Amino acid sequence: MQGNPPRVTEIAPDIFQISIFAPEINLQFNAFLVRDDEPLLFHTLFRRWVPLMREGIARLLDPARLRWISFSHFEMDECGALNEWLAEAPRAEAAHNFVGVNVNLHDYSSRPARVLMPEDRLVTGKYCFRYIHTPQLPHGWDAGVMFEEKTRTLFCSDLFHHGGDPEPITEQDVLGRVRAELTAYQAGPLANYVPFTQHTERILHGLAELKPRTIAAQHGSAYAGDGERALRGLAQVMREVLGKAASVTSAP
Ligand SMILES: [Fe+2]
Ligand SMILES: [Fe+2]
Repeated sequence: MQGNPPRVTEIAPDIFQISIFAPEINLQFNAFLVRDDEPLLFHTLFRRWVPLMREGIARLLDPARLRWISFSHFEMDECGALNEWLAEAPRAEAAHNFVGVNVNLHDYSSRPARVLMPEDRLVTGKYCFRYIHTPQLPHGWDAGVMFEEKTRTLFCSDLFHHGGDPEPITEQDVLGRVRAELTAYQAGPLANYVPFTQHTERILHGLAELKPRTIAAQHGSAYAGDGERALRGLAQVMREVLGKAASVTSAP
């Protein structure tokens, strides 16, 4: 899959979205670089896009300075290029939750990974990150999100996914776009992208309690505004689109 040249945008203080648009599938893939004493990259994107990512990162700092690499769940758009970045940045270390490290990274990562337990904080200098385990949301046993406490930025992976090549960040409600995308996915081969389980709404309302100011989605625009309201709205959209589907879906 081809990617366009990266677009780099500061979406919160020192938090940069590196966005690569894949025209074939009409979808953005966003990675986030936090510029701090110990720079953190959230999402590596695909191995084949390392040259594009290098171009994007190099506009902000020397890629060899990367110190932390994290992501939500084990998928190629999330962490496919982990080992390439560990090779390129000698001090870099992967950081993930207990399940992620003990199920996947102990074998996949070329260097030992740091486990972030719920009470842990990853301090990169000015900024301080929590890793919140959100099993099966958006998908995968290992799934989680990261929350930066000073800027109140939520790195939410596939939550708020929407297609096209939209603006880097918006203050407009994106839930209409999210609803349209989830509804379209349900009608095709990508159905059930995000499972709707008995835990989905509880986890989303728990994330809402964090009151994020910026929601950094992997696919589509970041949202700046009332993150609590957006997350509660997402729970409603998912119930309407995916909860209904779950109740009528029969065995294959
Ligand atoms: Fe995913
Ligand atoms: Fe994704």
